[in-house]
Amino acid sequence: MNKNEGRKLRIAWGITGAGHFIKDSYSVMRQLKEEGHSITTFMSRAGEEVARMYGLFDKTPGISDGSYLNEIYLDSSQGFSFPKIGRFNVGRYDLLVVSPATSNTVAKIVHGIADTLVTNCAAQAMKSGTPVLIVPVDCENSVISEMPYTIDRSKCRSCETCEPRENCPNEAITDQIDLLKCQGCGACVSLCEFGAISGGSPVSLKIRKVDSRNTKLLAEMEGVSVLREPKEILDKIHNWYHQ
Ligand SMILES: Cc1cc2nc3c(=O)[nH]c(=O)nc-3n(C[C@H](O)[C@H](O)[C@H](O)COP(=O)(O)O)c2cc1C
Repeated sequence: MNKNEGRKLRIAWGITGAGHFIKDSYSVMRQLKEEGHSITTFMSRAGEEVARMYGLFDKTPGISDGSYLNEIYLDSSQGFSFPKIGRFNVGRYDLLVVSPATSNTVAKIVHGIADTLVTNCAAQAMKSGTPVLIVPVDCENSVISEMPYTIDRSKCRSCETCEPRENCPNEAITDQIDLLKCQGCGACVSLCEFGAISGGSPVSLKIRKVDSRNTKLLAEMEGVSVLREPKEILDKIHNWYHQ
């Protein structure tokens, strides 16, 4: 038996505000949880909002159940000095994963900026020698991302009684969907008889040169491994068991 076999990891997981890869990141977190690893979830403000828009935020307690080292920490409730990240300095975590990592978060990390919960996690993990795995969303020539729920105005008939608007549990619908109120439940989709509401439709985005440059710089940082997609996190962790 090798020295790592059977050992459960204490993982800190940073979620930032990217639609791209957020669902895949949650799937990987779920799988690692099922394998018995502990996961503390750290969410940037944008990460919290985007997770809500994709109907994922409410699934977070199924991964981080609130017990010790399985808490959920939100940027929005962490003050300005982010006291919880002191855990990295006292070796509470075996690993920091940031997935998905927005171009904003990647830019901050490579330039040494730590002014959000997740960028602070990265800074403290590196300062304390905790390995960091990062899945940047902007590293290919173009990425396919998914839209949150939106109204196609060319299909909307502006009905006097709009069933989606009347029945939205979050009062997120007017003539458009207020994404800061939308919780991504998707109930509105089938309520519009004209098929004007959809979610998850793909959009193709071009990657800016500055973002691919930053991703390359990220890969050169000491203690950081850059992965192309969330499922590579599983490969990385499973390989570690066979070292
Ligand atoms: C629905 C939605 C999806 C987004 N997807 C991405 C994305 O895939 N990549 C990205 O870099 N930013 C994306 N953004 C923009 C970021 O959320 C925004 O830049 C934010 O300031 C990032 O903050 P953070 O890095 O602290 O999470 C998205 C925003 C929204 C509303």
